[in-house]
Amino acid sequence: MNEASGTLKEAIDKGRDAVARARNIMAVTGAGVSAESGIATFRDKDGLWQKSDPEEYATPEAYARDPVKVWRWYDARRTGMAKAEPNPAHRALAELERQGKRVFIVTQNVDDLHEQAGSSEVVHIHGSIWHVRCERDGSVEENRETPLSEIPPRCACGNEMRPAVVWFGEQLPAAPVRQVQHHLLDVETDVCLVVGTEASFGYILQWVHAARQHGATVITVNPRSTPLDGLSDLALQGRAGNILPQLVSD
Ligand code: OAD
Repeated sequence: MNEASGTLKEAIDKGRDAVARARNIMAVTGAGVSAESGIATFRDKDGLWQKSDPEEYATPEAYARDPVKVWRWYDARRTGMAKAEPNPAHRALAELERQGKRVFIVTQNVDDLHEQAGSSEVVHIHGSIWHVRCERDGSVEENRETPLSEIPPRCACGNEMRPAVVWFGEQLPAAPVRQVQHHLLDVETDVCLVVGTEASFGYILQWVHAARQHGATVITVNPRSTPLDGLSDLALQGRAGNILPQLVSD
């Protein structure tokens, strides 16, 4: 074992101790937690934003210009995600909950692999790829058809439905934001695990910062360094599917 892996092992041991002591865990997850389930991330070298311009697929203006083009892109992503299964990282977080800890997950992911793994408290801050929304009557429906038989899918009112996800330039949905804010105020978070995110958005940094201000130990899990390293008490460099199971005690 070289020195670097020795250091990582020690850091993982520290992380496992902190997690073992914790009653309340907040996990902030991003695309990296689902990477090992075969779902592409956004900003890695083979990420979605390297191949597709977000201005063409992930803004309200793009949708207004060409809803069919945007929907085809989402239809392809949905079809890929429908085949994906939770990986050991999702399962490790669910296992912590089964062990009796409260594990509050704030995910930027639009997949539902945390729920499939068995986690019960999951806040989707960027929406869900399995929900569609009518911009005329505001209704939101679950839609799991892959591939879609009609693009765009239609609401009962006859209007088109859009993906119920957050696009660039849009506000975050109010209810999940309130849920995160209340959680940060009402629950004493012992450990904040930040897994597989580039933390490109200020609110992610703010929430992790707030958890730390309230006394949480911040543990980051990522193969490379990110803007969160400065906020981290323990930066564990590696893949989520490898590191997270090692943070769970038997
Ligand atoms: P990014 O693609 O920006 O970042 C993914 C992060 O995961 C990077 O820091 C990678 O190093 C890390 N990563 C890759 N493989 C990993 C693995 N196996 N284990 C652990 N980490 C790994 O994705 P997000 O930070 O989630 O928003 O991006 C946030 C938001 O930006 C997305 O929700 C999406 C995107 O634009 C919208 O579409 C609104």
